[in-house]
Amino acid sequence: MIWVFVFIPMAPIVNNLSIVLLFIFISFLPSSLSTILKYPAIINLGDSNSDTGNLISAGIESVNPPYGQTYFNLPSGRYCDGRLIVDFLLDAMDMPFLNPYLDSLGLPNFKKGCNFAAAGSTILPANPTSVSPFSFDLQISQFIRFKTRSLELLSKTGRRYEKYLPPLDYYSKGLYMIDIGQNDIAGAFYSKSLDQVLASIPSILETFEAGLKRLYVEGGRNFWIHNTGPLGCLAQNIAKFGTDPTKLDEFGCVSSHNQAAKLFNLQLHALSNKFQAQFPDSNVTYVDIFSIKSNLIANYSRFGFENPLMACCGVGGAPLNYDTRITCGQTKVIDGISVTAKACNDSSEYINWDGIHYTEAANNFVSSQILTGKYSDPPFSDQMPFFLSLKF
Ligand SMILES: *[C@@H]1O[C@H](CO)[C@@H](O)[C@H](O)[C@H]1NC(C)=O
Ligand SMILES: *[C@@H]1O[C@H](CO)[C@@H](O)[C@H](O)[C@H]1NC(C)=O
Ligand SMILES: *[C@@H]1O[C@H](CO)[C@@H](O)[C@H](O)[C@H]1NC(C)=O
Repeated sequence: MIWVFVFIPMAPIVNNLSIVLLFIFISFLPSSLSTILKYPAIINLGDSNSDTGNLISAGIESVNPPYGQTYFNLPSGRYCDGRLIVDFLLDAMDMPFLNPYLDSLGLPNFKKGCNFAAAGSTILPANPTSVSPFSFDLQISQFIRFKTRSLELLSKTGRRYEKYLPPLDYYSKGLYMIDIGQNDIAGAFYSKSLDQVLASIPSILETFEAGLKRLYVEGGRNFWIHNTGPLGCLAQNIAKFGTDPTKLDEFGCVSSHNQAAKLFNLQLHALSNKFQAQFPDSNVTYVDIFSIKSNLIANYSRFGFENPLMACCGVGGAPLNYDTRITCGQTKVIDGISVTAKACNDSSEYINWDGIHYTEAANNFVSSQILTGKYSDPPFSDQMPFFLSLKF
């Protein structure tokens, strides 16, 4: 499942014993990561960064090809050409892809977890203009319903559902992965000034904190909280808010959006530490996605990418290949001409997939960086004897 790079100083004389030891070493390696990140189940909450099919299953939106073309060969319900960060992370933990809670087809098996993330979701309650009604609080209510109903089924029907539903202890031993907040910040810029956006962050995080506590009350103890990425580097935001070049930073990203993302992250980090201190029997890990994605965008060519900001799937060509009037996979008449937003020839050269979401290639990079453990607080690299990398 996992490719491992091993750095072992070469002895001047390689004798038979050291070769035998090396083999014993290597045969233990693939399990080392899944030993450190060992959870019987994963509960995921969030937005499109980790939605594996909820918004689509709810019938609120549909995605067409070329979504999914790189890995699933058809639209999978993910806003990506292939796999998301959550898919790569679960793979590294030797866990199957997470079934979306709302997907009633495809014989979903929820024994090892369930995904409540839905694209467009916010921490703050949804309003009539929201893309997704499934705000953080509603996702938690869905989770509580899931838990109550699962335990009810397990107790009433004996062994029949054991293969499909998590037993009670999985809720305390499982990992709660959360990646949400991007839409609260990005959405706020449509009606607020930068100062107003910055001033709204504490109340967004109060709602987040209340949600975390609800999960704790339900038995959740292991939390993995992803911070939000450099929103100002998304083609959608550059197209809308970056037409004046003085609004852009040295990488071509909208400065105000990244400033808001940074402040949100600073306060989210403080909240993670506070929560950990308040509930010492929990394990809260804060994961710095912002730094990983910023590094990828700033140093893209070093990591094998050709385009840091331009969308792979869109219309209009360079510099952004993004038009607010048409989304990836759509065909529309624009300025009197019928156009289709098609994918680029090689999505692995691009960081951005559709102007809003990252490509599978970028998600793979981000996941491999997360798994170094260096971007987490507390870091888990200390516990990992080797540098681990994901398969490509
Ligand atoms: C969570 O933290 C407790 C200490 O509070 C520790 O005993 C336990 O091993 C941790 N669990 C995981 C899964 O890391
Ligand atoms: C780009 O790489 C350089 C050299 O490793 C590093 O110092 C810098 O912080 C990186 N840029 C970002 C935005 O992470
Ligand atoms: C894709 O490749 C074809 C053939 O090599 C080329 O004609 C076309 O311009 C390329 N399209 C894009 C969007 O790069």
